[in-house]
Amino acid sequence: MSLIGNDIAYAASLLQQGKLVAIPTETVYGLAANALNEEAVLKIFKAKERPLFDPLIMHLPSFSLVEKYCESIPTLAYQLAAKFSPGPITFLLNRKENVPDLITSGLPQVAVRIPDHQLTLDLLKKLDFPLAAPSANPFGYISPTTAQHVQQQLGEKIDYILDGGNCRVGVESTIVGFENGKIIVYRLGGLSVEDLEVFAEVELRINSSSDPKAPGQLKTHYAPRKPLIIGNIEELMQANAGRKFSVMSFSKKYNSDTIVLSENADLSEAAKKLFSTMRELDTSNCEFILAEEFPDSFLGKAINDRLRRAATRD
Ligand code: TXA
Ligand code: MG
Repeated sequence: MSLIGNDIAYAASLLQQGKLVAIPTETVYGLAANALNEEAVLKIFKAKERPLFDPLIMHLPSFSLVEKYCESIPTLAYQLAAKFSPGPITFLLNRKENVPDLITSGLPQVAVRIPDHQLTLDLLKKLDFPLAAPSANPFGYISPTTAQHVQQQLGEKIDYILDGGNCRVGVESTIVGFENGKIIVYRLGGLSVEDLEVFAEVELRINSSSDPKAPGQLKTHYAPRKPLIIGNIEELMQANAGRKFSVMSFSKKYNSDTIVLSENADLSEAAKKLFSTMRELDTSNCEFILAEEFPDSFLGKAINDRLRRAATRD
């Protein structure tokens, strides 16, 4: 079993030795290694059983350090960073030579982000290298939002789990790129499109494909093992009468087996509870999950995106 604790100095020493440490962020927990050490980064792919074509995000303690690893950074990126970093936004920027190919899967751009969690920011400040960190879940499964989630699934494969409590945002970062003065959103996430639109025109490029620019775009992702059906709950309940299902809803209690994500219909609260509730239902004794579709605004967009990917079955 790997150790859970909040010893930053210990975590730093393990990372310096090329080992794996799970780190808390405001979005979800990450599985971190020294981004400049290819041998260490390979261990991430192995532990997650993640294909090498799926590139990793580099985590840094401040946006000013991004210039060490990226070039031709657009003014718009600096403007967004000034407003939202540290925070749930990841920037796709042109990489410099010093970024290992393994991080970008050979792509010309690297994904960088400044996570908004004090423990991890303190850890990053202690290190003289960035941390490569995908979400700390087996590839394709629901992302972890507590240290215990990480331990349950990857505990045997990690040297230490830095425990920063429950993730405040609960869905992954919004991934943005820049083209002709526009913001291109490749993954909906913890920073809303509405927040980005204040700065520039926003184009969504989140359609799933087999050759994704951001494999958060892969069709089946963030998925529980049980079937998850998304739609109008009253209709779904009628169609499945007599069967053993649980309901996951935004704010309405449909029956005694409903888990309500936010009684006050607060999208941020619902996002925060989404993945832990999906995990809970996945290990409960229901046969399948009926999930309510969310309002298509602010974090509701990211929640619907995760639900749709969780619901996809080949
Ligand atoms: O909130 C988050 O972003 C979390 C926390 C731990 O920081 N991390 C996370 O990482 O969600 P991951 O690996 O689960 O998802 C990152 C996504 C992947 O779908 C990956 O393909 C995409 O970012 N990505 C990373 N580098 C890229 C690149 N150079 N070009 C295009 N997409 C990239
Ligand atoms: Mg992930």
